[in-house]
Formats: sequence, structure tokens, C-alpha cells
Amino acid sequence: MRAAWLTIEGLGLTEGNTRIIDDVSLPLAAQHTVVLGPNGAGKSTLLRLIHGLLHPTSGSLGWPQPLSQAMVFQRPIMLRTTALANVMYGLKLRGCAATECEMRARQALARVGLEALATRPARLLSGGEQQRVALARAWALEPELLILDEPTASLDPASSREVERIIKDIAAAGARILMTTHNLGQARRIADEIVFIDRGRIVEQTPVGQFFTQPQTDAAQRFLQEESP
Ligand SMILES: Nc1ncnc2c1ncn2[C@@H]1O[C@H](COP(=O)(O)OP(=O)(O)O)[C@@H](O)[C@H]1O
Ligand SMILES: [Mg+2]
Repeated sequence: MRAAWLTIEGLGLTEGNTRIIDDVSLPLAAQHTVVLGPNGAGKSTLLRLIHGLLHPTSGSLGWPQPLSQAMVFQRPIMLRTTALANVMYGLKLRGCAATECEMRARQALARVGLEALATRPARLLSGGEQQRVALARAWALEPELLILDEPTASLDPASSREVERIIKDIAAAGARILMTTHNLGQARRIADEIVFIDRGRIVEQTPVGQFFTQPQTDAAQRFLQEESP
């Protein structure tokens, strides 16, 4: 068995009387993990906790070795400037020098097929192009862990396929992937392992082939029946 790159222990997030994340414990050891579960299960919250955007009310995240991370959201957040400047922004924050920064940002845009749109205002690009800028911005940082929350949920099928291809390219370059998606085909194509959650709890953690053919729990079986076209 592989060593875990993250060990989650007793993680909880409570807002008022609601347990959004409820005593989650699990090792994450797979290279490509997809979190599945019904709407409101707590998938986005779990990813935000892991990325450090939210603080847990209980439990802990154990990183055997700290991993550099980047996160991509369902709706890309574009600064009111060019696509290139959007990609350079994250690099500048990490203190890279202006010329090197621009070179790396241009390379990242080229990798997502957008070099020709570098000087366009990012907010005027299509939804699919904006998501590719967001992926370039993440990729430029060369993260060891890329977290993606429903990255194709707002996109048409063609843009969705392009974005999926880029995620696979980033994975092939060596990044660990932790993502959520509503697209079960995409989960199947990307994941090594599925983490299935419901009502803030881990229901099962299963290798991808087994999850889709022989889920261990009735809850996952029902979910697959309801979600399958
Ligand atoms: N800041 C918050 N305060 C109160 N409830 C929240 C907050 N954030 C999320 N929730 C609730 O927590 C649950 C899980 O949300 P979320 O993580 O977005 O689920 P998913 O991504 O699986 O659809 C939902 O019921 C949601 O309404
Ligand atoms: Mg969500």
C-alpha cells in the first residue's frame, strides 16, 4: 500500500447547529482521488478545509510532507485585467521576478492552448476559456497537489472535454489530483480512488473500478443508479 500524503483525523466543521463535516477520518494515498456525493453532502466544504480556506471546528489534517497546492473552482475568479496578468498574479504573489514571471505565465497559457488570447481582458473570454486561464494560473505554480471543485459543472460539453484534457495533462506532469465532479464518466476517467460522502460523513473509500461495478454500500449504489443517465 502507498503511504498517505494526507491523513485526516476526526475532521469536523459545525455552523450553528449544523454539522457540515462530521467526524471525517481517512488517509489519502491515491495519486488521483475523486470525491463524489449528493448535492449538499459537504464535498466543497471538505476540499476547502483541505486547501486551508476554512478552519475546522474539530480534528486535524496531517501532512507527512507539506505539499504545495493550488485550487480551481467551478466558476473561475478572473481579475479585471488580461489573461496573461491573471496567470502572472499568483506567480508574483510567490515572489518571482517580473521577466521570469511573464515567461512562465506565457508557457502556462500555451499549455492550455490560449497563447493567442494572452492580452485579451480575461473577463471577456468565454466560460471555457476563463476556466482554462484558471487552470493555467494553477499549473504555472507547479503544485504538488491540485484541488478542483466541479471544474466543468458550468461548461458546455466541448469546453468540458478540453478542461478534462488539461486536468489529465497536469496529472501526467506529476501533480496529485483531488477533485469533485457531477460527471460520473469524468470521475471514472480521472480517479484512481473514489471517496463517497453523504451528509458530511465518509460513506466509503473505494478503488475506482470497484466503486462503479461493486460499490460497498447501499448509499453509493443508490447514488450511482440515480446519477446514471
Ligand atoms: N458557511 C456555511 N454556513 C452554513 N451552512 C453551510 C455553509 N457552507 C455550506 N453549508 C451547508 O453545508 C452543506 C454542504 O455544503 P457543500 O460543501 O457546498 O456541499 P456539496 O459541495 O457537496 O454540494 C450544505 O447543506 C450547505 O448548505
Ligand atoms: Mg459543491
